[in-house]
Amino acid sequence: MEEIKAKLLRIVEAELACSAHDLEHVKRVCHLCGKLARSCPGLDMEVLETAALLHDIARVKEDHDPSGATDHAKLGAEMAASILAGIGFPGIKIEAVAHCIRSHRYRSDSPPQSGEAKVLFDADKLDVLGAVGLARSYMLAGEYREKLYAPVALEEYIRENLTGGVPGGRVKDITKHAANLEYELKFKMLPARLHTPEARALAEERLEYMNAFFQRLQREIRGED
Ligand SMILES: [Fe+2]
Ligand SMILES: [Fe+2]
Repeated sequence: MEEIKAKLLRIVEAELACSAHDLEHVKRVCHLCGKLARSCPGLDMEVLETAALLHDIARVKEDHDPSGATDHAKLGAEMAASILAGIGFPGIKIEAVAHCIRSHRYRSDSPPQSGEAKVLFDADKLDVLGAVGLARSYMLAGEYREKLYAPVALEEYIRENLTGGVPGGRVKDITKHAANLEYELKFKMLPARLHTPEARALAEERLEYMNAFFQRLQREIRGED
């Protein structure tokens, strides 16, 4: 497994050039998977560790597709299956890894079914919360020329800048987006979407930290602090 892991790390590093979904994100997700797995006995750690390593393998391809048609979870599952078949990974476990990758994204029509897929989903979502989540949000904000803070009414923003005018819609104009909107629209809803009690507890604690940050940011921007 160590030899396979080293090969996969090199492949993933070559594929991920984007700042917020880089190899450091992958390593943090691997670490969180290990931590969450301690409370979930019976998981196949070879499947979980491999899926964690490869889960964002198609992320850059999605980001660089101007048509918006690429789904990095679906494409990533296909890429992972082909990579694993080529490096001697046990064939019987490839579909289990692909399922974890296919179902890891927040906005997905393919929810996680297996224990390994649930843990990967939770670990990946935890990495958008807390101090790391804030830092990643602002890395993306700089890359996409988002606002530092968007003092807009949430209902109006949903109506005007999300596809379908619904909270789960995709952002139409990214330059009108901001981390505080992502927090309101997505991050606050995460604990209810997580599968493991340990991840939910960690998420609640990380959200408290983010809430304090955005409240202070708003006060400073208004000149109240
Ligand atoms: Fe992802
Ligand atoms: Fe990820």
